[in-house]
Amino acid sequence: MAEKKRLILNLFEMNCVSHITHGLWRLPDNNRERFNDIEYWTELAKLLESGGFDAVFLADVIGTYDVFRGGAGTSVREGLHIPNNDPSLVVPAMAAVTRHLGFGITFSTTYEPPFAWARRLSTLDHLTKGRVGWNIVTSYLPNAARNFGLDGEIDHDTRFEIADEYLDVLYKLWEGSWDDDAIVSDRENGTFADPEKIRPIDHDGKYFKVEGPQLPAPSRQRTPVLFTATASAAGTAFAGKHAELVFTGGPSADFVRTTIENVRAAAVAAGRKADDVRFVAIGAVIVGRTDDEAQAKLAAYERLTSVEGYLAHASLPFDPTAYPPETKIKDVADGDGGIGRWRAFDPEQSVGELLAGFSDIGRGPFFTVGTPEKVADAIESWLDDVGIDGINLLQYHSYDTARDFIELVVPVLRARGRLRASYDEDESLRDRIFGDGDRLPDRHFGARYRGGAHLPITERRAAPTGPTIPTDNSTARKRQR
Ligand SMILES: Cc1cc2nc3c(=O)[nH]c(=O)nc-3n(C[C@H](O)[C@H](O)[C@H](O)COP(=O)(O)O)c2cc1C
Repeated sequence: MAEKKRLILNLFEMNCVSHITHGLWRLPDNNRERFNDIEYWTELAKLLESGGFDAVFLADVIGTYDVFRGGAGTSVREGLHIPNNDPSLVVPAMAAVTRHLGFGITFSTTYEPPFAWARRLSTLDHLTKGRVGWNIVTSYLPNAARNFGLDGEIDHDTRFEIADEYLDVLYKLWEGSWDDDAIVSDRENGTFADPEKIRPIDHDGKYFKVEGPQLPAPSRQRTPVLFTATASAAGTAFAGKHAELVFTGGPSADFVRTTIENVRAAAVAAGRKADDVRFVAIGAVIVGRTDDEAQAKLAAYERLTSVEGYLAHASLPFDPTAYPPETKIKDVADGDGGIGRWRAFDPEQSVGELLAGFSDIGRGPFFTVGTPEKVADAIESWLDDVGIDGINLLQYHSYDTARDFIELVVPVLRARGRLRASYDEDESLRDRIFGDGDRLPDRHFGARYRGGAHLPITERRAAPTGPTIPTDNSTARKRQR
């Protein structure tokens, strides 16, 4: 019999009060307001590691949601992604109190230059001994664009084109700039690192110009595990070429199935194996010892959920609360159904119907409420029938959601062979997910730069003739300036 697919288990987090379950920060004993404290993160990390979680997935945005009601007022009142702190800076604290937990850090390719990010992420991969992943996003908030000196957002497909070159620069820095044996640490001869084994990248592209070399030495994974979340054509091609773990969303299980199929096809088209990409969905789980206990939790969450938070998060360009409930959407909005950031609406729908579905506490198609066995059944069905590989567990309450899952669901999943009983010692995040070593597979695009292959300096050295061929690194470097 084929071995059962093991669940990739991540916690969905964000360095703010109201990430994606708006209004629930008010629940008794919810720790969300403690996100400024380092202890919030260290306690959380220890809890997750005690339950065998693979990683904590840290979402991020770099602007405010200021479309709904024409300003950021609702977002500020709701604590909706503002205040919000940098996700990467809590990682060393969590890494210091754990040995196995991985970290998926969201960072945008649109505004900050690749050289700085390559350095930061390598540093984190060193400090965590290879437990870092990067959730690649291109950012979607107009305010983010204005925060970084632009008048408005760069159009969607151009953002993906920029992201593609951004990744190219990073692969050159992470994979090509240093050889594995560059550090010799020879005390007798006073040589720490061998200059022959470190090279500039001399990237000169449409969007970026980067000389290099990369400043940090190669970290355990070199390239961190590459995550992304997407559904568009440009995003799917991008994910097929680059992503190792795709975070999927969408309205239905069928939508998720189609996304999985499309991204796997794009991966194969990019010379990879279909199975080189794994898929993770939001796991919205409310579990109790009995059905009644789970339903009571759901009712408590529903009482506090904030429709306004969801409306602002969706960047609705009109306010459905300002109209009588029977008003048709076509009579209040632009009428074309293309409303807000997340969904297209039926113009014939009434605002009342729209609002009724808006405080969607499940946040997507994978929503299960009940006993540990019922939750485990739902997870198994998503693994086997929908084809996902894991979940980012949605938090209703911090830390009760994770604690309940660990106490009630993890033992059932372990008994069913869906989770391991313990971590393997000394695993990198990539090795844990794919079981094939710490580094990118050879067939991944990023691997082409290994040993300096495909870099200008290597190609000049390899050229058979010609008067301008430099003979060593130092000559080559002088020529760059
Ligand atoms: C489940 C999920 C989580 C996401 N998390 C973030 C995030 O934390 N930060 C961000 O800027 N974008 C986030 N996004 C948005 C994506 O990066 C992307 O902009 C969006 O899915 C649209 O891409 P597409 O046009 O290729 O579908 C998320 C998307 C999904 C589906």
